[in-house]
Amino acid sequence: MSAFPATRLRRFRRTGALRELVRETRLDLRDFVYPVFACPGTGVEKPLEGLPGIAQRSVDRLADEAVELMGLGIGAVLLFGIPEEKDEAASGAYDEDGIVQQALRAMAERAPEMVLLTDVCLCEYTSHGHCGVVDGDEIVNDLSLDLLAKTAVSHAEAGAHAVCPSDMMDGRVGAIRGALDTEGFEQVPIVSYAAKAASAFYGPFREAAESAPAFGDRRSYQMDPANAREALRECELDLQEGADALMIKPAFPSLDVIAAARARFDVPIFAYNVSGEYAMVKAAAARGWLDEPAAAIESLTAIKRAGADVIVSYWAKELAGWL
Ligand code: PBG
Repeated sequence: MSAFPATRLRRFRRTGALRELVRETRLDLRDFVYPVFACPGTGVEKPLEGLPGIAQRSVDRLADEAVELMGLGIGAVLLFGIPEEKDEAASGAYDEDGIVQQALRAMAERAPEMVLLTDVCLCEYTSHGHCGVVDGDEIVNDLSLDLLAKTAVSHAEAGAHAVCPSDMMDGRVGAIRGALDTEGFEQVPIVSYAAKAASAFYGPFREAAESAPAFGDRRSYQMDPANAREALRECELDLQEGADALMIKPAFPSLDVIAAARARFDVPIFAYNVSGEYAMVKAAAARGWLDEPAAAIESLTAIKRAGADVIVSYWAKELAGWL
């Protein structure tokens, strides 16, 4: 076809209806997962300063929240827990009566249709805030695997529909798959946070989950954000170990990784639109510098356009009103 003046790309941009017709990427609430934070107590709803609109909730309140979310058309949540007590062995993570385990049972009872995903990690449960077992200033890989596997099994026992390991230890997907199968949970999928960068954008989350490391940082286990080829190796290895889906994180700074993973792997690709991505738009909007719904929808659309099938986002609830 000849170029201008025969070709005019503005023709389809003339009216809202034409633009609507040829739009390539649409957001659908059914592709969203809403993160929730379970905390001890009853009747507790503790708003989080760094995550406006998001709160820690006690188990009873989370059950109410599950009903509300279903009513809004949000059918999936990702659970995080803030335990009563933390220790070196992260015992709260795999306690049969742990905070996430209680929340799973309560939410399932009130909202049986809700898809319950759990974040499998130790950092919210360890006194030092690292995602694995600590020896001196080392985060010991192989000793952490058993605890992670126990945590995943205990989530499955409490009713998790899928488990999402986010610790970035080598070999955790295989260890979790083995433990789930041994315990009779061969039907529970693993959504692996396969390519998770040591990102500056998790700051507000660490306040929400009370999981900031007491010493050092997470760069000896989470990935260097500069590495895209290594991110694909992480994805490949997790699939070999038995991951059913891949999660890429943070989302906005990793659009190239999302696109590459989409092109290379035929499994569902999840992207986590993390706390800092959300908080920076909220903060700018609060100052009148950005139009929040427009900026949020544009960001989320870009994540989907890059190739994410499922998006974990703190905006899911507000998005229900915007779409
Ligand atoms: C647990 C975990 C983190 C996030 C999800 N799972 C924090 C971290 O790795 O420090 C971050 C989520 C967010 O920022 O919204 N390891």
